[in-house]
Amino acid sequence: MRVFVITGAGVSAESGIPTFRGKGGYWRNLDPAKLATPEAFARDPKLVWEWYCERRQRIRNAQPNAAHEAITKLANHAAEFLLVTQNVDDLHARAGLRAEKIVQIHGDIFGTRCSRCGFKEHNEECEEIPRCPKCDALMRPGVVWFGEQLPWNELQRIENYLDRGACDLVIVAGTTATFGYIIDWALRARAPNGELIEVNPEATPLSEFATQRIRESAAVALPKIVDQVITS
Ligand code: OAD
Repeated sequence: MRVFVITGAGVSAESGIPTFRGKGGYWRNLDPAKLATPEAFARDPKLVWEWYCERRQRIRNAQPNAAHEAITKLANHAAEFLLVTQNVDDLHARAGLRAEKIVQIHGDIFGTRCSRCGFKEHNEECEEIPRCPKCDALMRPGVVWFGEQLPWNELQRIENYLDRGACDLVIVAGTTATFGYIIDWALRARAPNGELIEVNPEATPLSEFATQRIRESAAVALPKIVDQVITS
C-alpha cells in the first residue's frame, strides 16, 4: 500500500500549539500571517523572534497527540509512505516517525539561518537575537515565510515520491489548504481508484475533491481511520 499524508496546524492543535488562522490564531493581537514575513523581520526582528521563541517554548512543553501517533502507525503499516507537513514543530518526529518519511515543507522552528549569508545551524537558544558566526548579521528562524520559495531539496523529495507511483490512500488533515501546492500534491498523489480523505472540522478548498470528508478533530478521527485501514 502506497500512502501520502499532508498535515497542517490543526494536527498539532490538540497538543496545545495554536493554529495560524481561526480561533486562537492571534498573538498579542497580531496576525501571525503578518509576523511570518521577511518584511516583519526587517522592520522588527526582536518582535518576530519573541513570537518564535514563545512558540518554541510551547512546542518543547507539548506532547504528540493521538493524531501524530496514528500517522506513525500508518507509516509503519504501509509499504511506502511519505508525510508532508506544513508544521514547523517536531511532534511528528517525537511520535516516532522516521526523518526519511517526513518532509517539513515550511522548515523547522528549531533551526536558524543567517539573514545575510544563509549559514544554517540548529540553535534552540532564545536569550537574545542570535548573530551569524560567519558574518555577524542577524540570524532568523529556519522557517519559510510568506512570499519565500519552498526548500528545493524538500520539493525534490516530494516530486520523487509522486513520480514513483500513485497512492492508494491520501490523507489531508488539519490544514486550510490555503496554498495551491497542497491541493496540487494531494490530487496528483491519488490513484484513479484511490481514496482522498480530508480530516478537518471545517470545509476547505480541498473538500470538493475528497472522496471522504471527516468533520472531526484529527486526534479523534485519525486513530479510527488508521485502525480501519490496518484491519481492512
Ligand atoms: P491554519 O491555521 O491555516 O489552519 C488550521 C486548520 O486546521 C483549519 O482548517 C482548521 O479548521 C483545522 N483544525 C483546527 N483544529 C483542528 C483539529 N483539532 N483537528 C483537525 N483540524 C483542525 O494552518 P495551516 O493550514 O497548517 O505557513 O497553515 C498553512 C500555513 O500557513 C502554515 O504552515 C504557515 C501559515 O502561514 C508559513 O508560515 C509559510
